[in-house]
Amino acid sequence: MAAPISAGDPVTGASEWTGRVGGTWAREWERTDRSFGSLTARLLDPAAIGDSNSALDIGCGAGEVAITLAARNPAAEITGLDISQDLLGVARERGSTFDNLTFREGDAARWTPANTARAPNLLISRHGVMFFDEPAPAFAHLRTIAAKRARLRFSCFRERAENHWVSQLQSVTPASSPPSDPYAPGPFAFGEEGRVRDILTAAGWRDVTLEPYDYAMIAGEGEGALDEAVAYFQRIGPAAGAIADLAGVARDRAIEALRAMLAEHLSQGRVSLPGSAWIVTARAD
Ligand SMILES: C[S@@+](CC[C@H](N)C(=O)[O-])C[C@H]1O[C@@H](n2cnc3c(N)ncnc32)[C@H](O)[C@@H]1O
Repeated sequence: MAAPISAGDPVTGASEWTGRVGGTWAREWERTDRSFGSLTARLLDPAAIGDSNSALDIGCGAGEVAITLAARNPAAEITGLDISQDLLGVARERGSTFDNLTFREGDAARWTPANTARAPNLLISRHGVMFFDEPAPAFAHLRTIAAKRARLRFSCFRERAENHWVSQLQSVTPASSPPSDPYAPGPFAFGEEGRVRDILTAAGWRDVTLEPYDYAMIAGEGEGALDEAVAYFQRIGPAAGAIADLAGVARDRAIEALRAMLAEHLSQGRVSLPGSAWIVTARAD
């Protein structure tokens, strides 16, 4: 069985994504896509993304955003970029029927497209840009590979304290120490509005906006919704790593506590936790 990954881990850098973290996300892609459902719809709002003949999905993971864009815009060239071979394997299989879709392996902080004649005029990401060691240089590089006046649009989590599900999930296992560097690469590295503005402005992006967006993270649905949610959060999320480190009675108790906590979020056949995100937009010159 693959090691679990904690989305609440203080640090989730490149080596985690190319290793065990990417492997676990690749196995859990269907449940992860479902958990992002309403956020995806908002991120890909056609009125907000406008017309694009060339789009780059940064940190595309298992490919849902890139595949959706390719299906919607057959004349556009869509590229999904990621560092995880495991996730790219899933994305390529899912997107194999689209002629206008390519998945590339590379670090978005330095990757350059082969076809520079059609630079991306839409750079998009669903929770894929909070993992750079040096975010400002990474976004500066992305600006250099973008078309003139290209749109940047991405989602990321707001601060940990606004995502109460994190502390609720963490409460089921023994207390762990808080991250020593709140800005280290990881799911909450872009939580602070001012920091995101500073990074993008320093990187040369213009007209930066951040829109708070609250959404329902669906962790289980239908018959067996609770069992499914319990299984999911033993694999992905802020309790996963700590539960895996427990054994025997302590582990059983933690899983029982997880079930009880998630049961409080079960309503009408769905286990749903309230997620708080930013939708961030900016423009290249
Ligand atoms: C939270 S996952 C989101 C995946 C996908 N966007 C989705 O919504 O399902 C973060 C993704 O960013 C990728 N990633 C992390 N650092 C990266 C980098 N420097 N360059 C490209 N991709 C990166 C990871 O491999 C992972 O697929």
